Amino acid sequence: MIAYQTILNDIFSDIKNTEDRGKVASYIPELGKIDKDKFGMHLIDTNGRGYFKGDSEELFSIQSISKVLSLAMALGLVGENLWQRVDVEPSGDPFNHLSLLEQENGIPRNPLINAGAIVVADILVTHLKNPKEDFKKFICKVAGDPHIDFDPKVAKSEKETGFKNFAAANLLKSYGNLKNDVSEVLDFYFHQCAIAMSCTQLAKTFFLFSNRGQCMQGQTYLNINQVKRINAIMLTCGFYDEAGEFAFRVGLPGKSGVGGGIVALLPDQFCVATWSPGLNMKGNSKLGMRALEKLTSDSGLSIF
Ligand code: DON
Repeated sequence: MIAYQTILNDIFSDIKNTEDRGKVASYIPELGKIDKDKFGMHLIDTNGRGYFKGDSEELFSIQSISKVLSLAMALGLVGENLWQRVDVEPSGDPFNHLSLLEQENGIPRNPLINAGAIVVADILVTHLKNPKEDFKKFICKVAGDPHIDFDPKVAKSEKETGFKNFAAANLLKSYGNLKNDVSEVLDFYFHQCAIAMSCTQLAKTFFLFSNRGQCMQGQTYLNINQVKRINAIMLTCGFYDEAGEFAFRVGLPGKSGVGGGIVALLPDQFCVATWSPGLNMKGNSKLGMRALEKLTSDSGLSIF
């Protein structure tokens, strides 16, 4: 038995007095208001047992972490056809870069950079009757928690300043890789990113990726090959131009968001979420990465 609670306690004492916590994202003005000193962590082991520390129950904006959930939902709806519109290669570029999109004729490198996630959002807008409501309900079901919701202030704030995403969506449209209206797709995308969750809710939601597609309530949403694909994409693309560094230091598939959250998992062992709003230069949570590096180092557990 791994003493997860002892490891979490050690992580907390290691990081709690850290001065340099990185910078809170301010390009979405609403996110700039968050207290940088927050830190939370929740780990769920393969038996469904939870271990937690710090601000693990506090809600934060999951931002790009939502891209994994929209991908999972879209894969369930359209299956392997999805890969005709989005590639699966790491980009080595920041999450919002556009130059590759033009060079590669409107096919985004992967579904976790913004352009790729906007294509996935387009697929959901096409296939869902009430896209925002249906997506939210999907997350609530996977999490086993009916209270998960959007933060409308964050969605509005990003809509007002999301110029690069408007550029990405327009570029995709010009290449014929966006079927719906730019404004409709982006309204959905800004809302999916504005889902608010706690570390506890995130760990519960992502449990299925560590559990062969079966969520904590016992329902199966993805088959084993879909889980393989999504975990592979998280490992190679989940941290953008820092994916190599995350694999090197942490050694787990995972996904970050500019709200300061990170979720990571070890198949058949555990799923873990961290939250610390200060970001490093690459837009990933500075202390979240440090916490997860300590988790895999102290436990000796990683996919490698
Ligand atoms: O589209 C954006 O810029 C944000 N809604 C999400 C970016 C993000 O979280 C990048 N991840 N670290």
